[in-house]
Amino acid sequence: GSQQAQPAAKVLKVGAEATFPPFEFQEEKSKDYTGFDVDLMKAIGKQMGMEVQIVNTGFDGLIPALEGSQIDVIASAMTITDERSKKVNFSKPYYKSGLSIVVKSDNNTIKSFKDLEGKRLAVQIGTTGAEEAKKIKDAKVREFNSASEAYLELKAGGTDAVVNDLPVNEYYLAQGGNKDAKLVGEVLNAEEYGIAVAKKNTELAGKINKALDDIKQNGEYAKIYEKWFGK
Ligand code: ARG
Repeated sequence: GSQQAQPAAKVLKVGAEATFPPFEFQEEKSKDYTGFDVDLMKAIGKQMGMEVQIVNTGFDGLIPALEGSQIDVIASAMTITDERSKKVNFSKPYYKSGLSIVVKSDNNTIKSFKDLEGKRLAVQIGTTGAEEAKKIKDAKVREFNSASEAYLELKAGGTDAVVNDLPVNEYYLAQGGNKDAKLVGEVLNAEEYGIAVAKKNTELAGKINKALDDIKQNGEYAKIYEKWFGK
C-alpha cells in the first residue's frame, strides 16, 4: 500500500504536579492522568488541533521547566500571582479558588487563620499555601513535595494543620479524609488559577485564551466543570 500516513498531531507538553486531585492526579490502576485541569487542557488542545501530553513535574520545578522549554504550558491549579507574572504569561483565569485549613477532627483550638500563630503547619512546597503559612507569626512551617504528604503528616500527628487550596482540601475530606479530619475557618484570599505560558511565547498565549473562550462558548467548559465539581 502506498497510503500516506496522516501527519501526527502536534504535541502540546503540559507541565503539572500530578498529585493534586481533583485538578491533576493519576488513575489508580491505569496511571493515566486525570482531573479538571487534564480534561480542560485536552479540550483546549482539541480546539487548537494539538495532542496534549502531561509532564509530571514537582510544583516548584514547573516555572523553571517552562523557562527551559521542557514544557509548553503549565496547567497545575496554579494561582495567578504578581510574583509569578514577572516570569510567565498567564491566560485569563479559568477557576476561582482560595486557601483553607484542615485540622484533626478533635482539634478544638484552631478555628481560623488567626489561631495558627505558633502552630505547626504542613504545606506543599512552592505553593501560595506555603507563602501564606510562612507569614503567620511563630508558625513552624514544614514544606512537603506533595499535598498528600502534608495530609499524611496531619494524620500521623506531626503537624497541627494543613494549609492548602479549598477544593483540594474538600476533595481530600470527601474521599475519606473526613474520618479523622475537618475543614475550619474562613477561606483566605480570592485566588484564581491560570494557564502559564513562557514570556517569549506570546503567540501560544493568545491561542490558549482563544481556545478557552471557545470551550466556554460551546459548553465544553461547563461539562468539564460539572463532571468534577457538580453544579
Ligand atoms: N494554587 C496553589 C498555588 O498556585 C497550589 C497549586 C498546587 N498545584 C499542584 N498541582 N500541586 O500555589
